[in-house]
Amino acid sequence: MTKIIAITNHKGGVGKTTSAVNIGAGLARNGKKILLIDIDPQANLSQSLGIKKSDAMLYEAMRNNAVLSPISILENLEIIPSSADLSNLESELSAEAGREYILDEILSPLKSHFDYIFIDCPPSLGLLTINAFTTATEIFIPLQAHYLAIKGLTKIVEVIEKVKKRLNKNLVISGVIITQYDKRKVLHRDVAEKIISYFGEKVFNTRIRDNIALAEAPSTGQDIFRYSQKSYGAEDYANLCQEILKMK
Ligand SMILES: Nc1ncnc2c1ncn2[C@@H]1O[C@H](COP(=O)(O)OP(=O)(O)OP(=O)(O)O)[C@@H](O)[C@H]1O
Ligand SMILES: [Mg+2]
Repeated sequence: MTKIIAITNHKGGVGKTTSAVNIGAGLARNGKKILLIDIDPQANLSQSLGIKKSDAMLYEAMRNNAVLSPISILENLEIIPSSADLSNLESELSAEAGREYILDEILSPLKSHFDYIFIDCPPSLGLLTINAFTTATEIFIPLQAHYLAIKGLTKIVEVIEKVKKRLNKNLVISGVIITQYDKRKVLHRDVAEKIISYFGEKVFNTRIRDNIALAEAPSTGQDIFRYSQKSYGAEDYANLCQEILKMK
């Protein structure tokens, strides 16, 4: 069955997009058929993979039921890009019945073509993120090992619990990714412990280290494996992909 994974955290800059790009590219290299969906109006995922022009495909599909035709990036890796007008959907669809399920509806003809679909969520818990949650089978939460990063956790867990109760009863948080990690810092080690005591075995063993190549790659339109195969970033995301492949 296709796994549909929303990568989410309403806190900004925690590594959602970096993880979507590099988990997607890493699994594609392992022969899995991957679709990445950029549902963030900032369009960082699209830009990170070299899509320079704004593409209203997802907006048109969510607004007017137009057909989605993913763009091929590499072997096994396709993307549905984003555009700034997605941010208008919240108000434009405020009177639409079933507006929480639109992404699920337009995605259904595509689902069976892929092994994994990853949705890169915006840093908010509004309608776009809720649409990702209703179509998702699982949720990954990237977290920085900072004190403030864990402060907002109860909020996101609360929203996910509500979606689970009312809109998508099978939804589970299945993975927590600790990002931009520096094991030499006591604070990072302490916060990582706290994250593990909160989420238990859902926390991936692989920590994504702070690595400049991960920050540089997007400006070249490449994932980390093409940009710098020997970087820590490539090593960490490759290890994370192996853990994901072993999940049920
Ligand atoms: N492990 C890392 N090491 C160094 N830099 C990183 C790492 N992960 C992400 N970055 C950089 O940190 C910034 C934020 O990362 P990213 O865009 O992935 O976060 P995000 O959660 O998607 O942000 P937003 O909430 O704005 O969508 C980017 O400039 C990215 O290149
Ligand atoms: Mg992002």
